[in-house]
Amino acid sequence: MAKVLYSVTMSVDGFITGPDGDMQWMRPYLGPNPEVDELLPQIGSILVGRRSHDGDDPHKGDAGEGHAFGGGWDGPQFVVTHRPPATPEAGVTYVDDFAKALALAKEAAGDKYVNVIGANIAKQCIEAGELDEVFLLYAPVMLGDGTRLFDHPGGRIVRLARRSVTETPLSTSLWFTVES
Ligand SMILES: NC(=O)c1ccc[n+]([C@@H]2O[C@H](COP(=O)([O-])OP(=O)(O)OC[C@H]3O[C@@H](n4cnc5c(N)ncnc54)[C@H](OP(=O)(O)O)[C@@H]3O)[C@@H](O)[C@H]2O)c1
Repeated sequence: MAKVLYSVTMSVDGFITGPDGDMQWMRPYLGPNPEVDELLPQIGSILVGRRSHDGDDPHKGDAGEGHAFGGGWDGPQFVVTHRPPATPEAGVTYVDDFAKALALAKEAAGDKYVNVIGANIAKQCIEAGELDEVFLLYAPVMLGDGTRLFDHPGGRIVRLARRSVTETPLSTSLWFTVES
């Protein structure tokens, strides 16, 4: 059965974008990462929020612009949105219901990961008790403002069990299993 993984690059102060959805902050940290290379073939589908799908691309101006993981991955993508476009992109299914989108993404992933993109969608996975793992790449930078990794006004404790810590030249990654 598919597992649901939230993988994301994050600043040390807990932001996944800069102000106004800026993603250019990430460019210095996009270099080779063996752990990511190992992960990509284990991803069977992508479940992504509309804001991430339409948002700023850290690969802007590069060959990988507009492609998942900068062109490192290809497969079925499920975009959660209230506003499905008149002309869908090839390989992309637009779904206006979170639970339905997750079910479709899991079915498409088979025994591989559903990779979640977007903090809002990851939060909905947590609230539904459907998030299995979190893979955080900590970039050595502080941003001060932007989109938080996990924003829950009033607070919400999500307990994680650490699976691995990996140092690469450009980031430090922590891989967790979600406990509750
Ligand atoms: N640092 C990283 O590694 C990394 C990776 C990927 C993305 N990002 C960035 O992170 C940011 C994430 O943004 P985010 O967390 O605010 O948004 P998000 O999760 O990407 O998308 C949220 C949007 O999805 C749609 N949506 C959510 N739930 C829905 C539902 N139940 N039914 C129908 N539609 C639903 C809504 O869009 P509509 O109502 O407009 O349809 C909503 O505004 C983006 O700016 C992105 O560029 C960072």
